[in-house]
Amino acid sequence: MKPLQTPFFRIKEQSLQYDISLLKQSLADNWGNYIAAYSVKTNSLPWLLNYLKEQEFYAEVVSKMEYDLAVRLGFPRKHIIYNGPIKDKKTFETVLLAGGYVNLDSNYELDWMEELSRLYPNRHFKVGLRVNCDLSLLCHEEIPASQEGGRFGYCYENGVLKAALERLSALPNVWAAGLHMHTSTQSRSIQVFGALAKMAVTIAKEYALCLDYVDMGGGYFGGRDDKPDYRDYFKEICKELSAYFNPQKTILIAEPGVSLISRATTFETSVIDVKDIRNRKFVVTDGSRTNLNPLVTRHVYPHHIHYISDTSVRKTESSQWICGATCMEYDKLFEIIDDIALVPGDQIIYDTAGGYTICLNPLFINYLPAVYVEHEDGTLFTARKAWDNEEYLQKNYVEKSKRRNS
Ligand SMILES: Cc1ncc(COP(=O)(O)O)c(C=O)c1O
Repeated sequence: MKPLQTPFFRIKEQSLQYDISLLKQSLADNWGNYIAAYSVKTNSLPWLLNYLKEQEFYAEVVSKMEYDLAVRLGFPRKHIIYNGPIKDKKTFETVLLAGGYVNLDSNYELDWMEELSRLYPNRHFKVGLRVNCDLSLLCHEEIPASQEGGRFGYCYENGVLKAALERLSALPNVWAAGLHMHTSTQSRSIQVFGALAKMAVTIAKEYALCLDYVDMGGGYFGGRDDKPDYRDYFKEICKELSAYFNPQKTILIAEPGVSLISRATTFETSVIDVKDIRNRKFVVTDGSRTNLNPLVTRHVYPHHIHYISDTSVRKTESSQWICGATCMEYDKLFEIIDDIALVPGDQIIYDTAGGYTICLNPLFINYLPAVYVEHEDGTLFTARKAWDNEEYLQKNYVEKSKRRNS
């Protein structure tokens, strides 16, 4: 078979299936009554969304665009979880009327609920509220994901959450039925999830809430043997939740993103050139930092190398800098120290490359790379062809150079 033109992403179905099964099994074993949802923004590749839909996943969306995409791909409207601080009013109403899940996050959404309650006096609405609580009070060693602390949801400590609940409870046909606990953390530790579950219990008790669901959000590790996995997280979460909630009555929702698709996905690149500049070796590759780390936040790129030829006859290099395909100086990925000299044709394969990459690539210099799915029998399916100017020119207009009648 002709080798595939690099760079491209590869999704191994078997590994994806492994993590899907691990998630479902962990939820089933520890709680039983659960909804597995997938965070669409993490990787909204249509093939992937369809694959997860077929496995009964709900789509967790945070924009009208994501909602439309999920619906176009066949997710039932009631299998939508609509989150985020910027909601579209029509989508908000549609999801609620269809019996989907909406987790309120902003002040204007409370106004919308009052309006909906008046407009549809004969309908019953159930909504969730995103909780904002001070994680550093619950887990002293936790470093917040942002210096200022989380900015999403209604604040528990200053009474804003309580006030939101009071506004909803004044509406005869609206039920504050869920708590959404998603909180991004640096540590992704089991303790954090235990503390968040405990917080859900505290809030439910304090405000005498009868909950249809607790949504623990995403933020788990996945695909790494040196880190906790779903079994550890849900054991801890469910231990805390069971202090107050009953699985017969309250659904446990999980909405992972990166942990579900990391193990399965690689980004595969080739060495194009090796340059000697003064005392340095720069290895030029056809992939880029913009493909893997568009937010320029990462410093570590787990990878492995396929050497094109016999390495026993190659010399060792004290330092080789792996560089990307753009003409930006910052497009350098990592340094290889005291190791086999790379030559054109060698392949650098980045592991755990599925989250916040495939769909977050900028259209900078090169467009979106191809994505191939490797089925369990080894055959390949093209889930996305590499973009070229056909895609780039869509919906663009250039002025005609001469007017016919002038
Ligand atoms: C509300 C919500 N749910 C789920 C996720 C998925 O998180 P992760 O990809 O870390 O699992 C995010 C990510 O920020 C989120 O904001």
